[in-house]
Amino acid sequence: MDLQRSESVPTPPKSHHQPEVLLGKYELGRFLGRGAFAKVYFARSLADGTGVAVKVLDKPQLLRTGMKSQVLCEVSAMRRLSHPNIVKLHEVMATKSKIYLIMEYAAGGDLLTWLHRRGPALESAARHYFQQLVAALRYCHARGVAHRDVKPQNLLLDGDGNLKVSDFGLSALPDQLREDGHLHTACGTPAFAAPEVARGKGYDGAKADAWSCGVILFVLLAGSLPFDDANLAQMYRTIYKRAYEFPKGMSRSARRLVARLLEPNPERRMTIGELADHPWLKRSLSLDSQLSLMESAKAEDTTSAALDPPAMNAFDIIVALSSALDLTGLFDEDGKRRERRFTSTASVERIMGRMEEMGLKSGFSVERRRNGGGVGMGRWGSVVLVAEVAEVAAPLLLVELKVEDGSGGDGEGFGWGELRAGLGDIVSAWHSSED
Ligand code: ADE
Repeated sequence: MDLQRSESVPTPPKSHHQPEVLLGKYELGRFLGRGAFAKVYFARSLADGTGVAVKVLDKPQLLRTGMKSQVLCEVSAMRRLSHPNIVKLHEVMATKSKIYLIMEYAAGGDLLTWLHRRGPALESAARHYFQQLVAALRYCHARGVAHRDVKPQNLLLDGDGNLKVSDFGLSALPDQLREDGHLHTACGTPAFAAPEVARGKGYDGAKADAWSCGVILFVLLAGSLPFDDANLAQMYRTIYKRAYEFPKGMSRSARRLVARLLEPNPERRMTIGELADHPWLKRSLSLDSQLSLMESAKAEDTTSAALDPPAMNAFDIIVALSSALDLTGLFDEDGKRRERRFTSTASVERIMGRMEEMGLKSGFSVERRRNGGGVGMGRWGSVVLVAEVAEVAAPLLLVELKVEDGSGGDGEGFGWGELRAGLGDIVSAWHSSED
């Protein structure tokens, strides 16, 4: 398999049409590219004339194909991230059938197209892009987000030649970790994905991203993939044998660095933190990259502080949560909200215990889920309500209640009012204007 051509071929705007205006705010322009479940267009803000990229998702298709959680994951991840080398998510809008992610526009196209046009990069250019990729990933990891699909198609360039990581559709948030602290979803693109991702036994998202960085650095310097076989079994044999070939011109220090990243054993693989301090990467750091790396280091400092109660109190967290995580409206089709959330400082056990008590009292069968971090209740095999707990910042927990039978919460199951009354002092705050 050769590097595949990008699909992001711009098409001219249809001149005989009135420009389409999205929800009164953005004038839709040319087509930029297509993902598996989305199309991306250029658009211009009517408020200030700035260019943006609009990712359009088709709601019925997402629901049919079970991709809803992936979209919520992408939005949730992007909203947590603000870094010069990460495509910013400005706004999310939705109609009955579509979701629009309004994003920062990267005018320089993607790195794959760049490579097709220019061929292998000189070491100085490769270093410039790689420094910025590493800065972005270091920042993400410090905030608990792994990208999991780092590949040249997802690395965009802005008008000044700065790299912007995009497409967090496969990114993983900490609440997707299982009890063993590992991710379990096999995802990514085989030629760029770490071998442990395909094994399906759980993996560390940050270590998997470090592997993808090794592939990216190889691709930048060689203009071809290190592991490239249509037969996946054969490809993994090559990976474990480390049987890739460096191009003749690649320097010894770059080779050593690639080899440390393309280490099949994730425990022995160089981490992104070590990578950021590597002499090859630090050599002649461009001014932009210096600023970008400083920003990442700052993010690492503030991340640990952000999780300490003195730096971010419960009120701050609640405000952040109601904007960052209240994404349920995106998929409500009949206007009935099927989800509620609240924060609590009670223990997981106490919250789950109370939910169980209430379920049993109302005649439901009750089942613990997800290693005790959730509880489902229902009747005659159909689930009515699911409660899940996620830690926000100790000791604050976020509890999500989801009605799963479509009754809107007041059919045969609980009414929301009854639930609230039953939960009583367990609730610190409910998260919605209605509540
Ligand atoms: N293609 C996909 N996302 C894009 C973005 N944010 N800017 C430019 N082109 C894109």
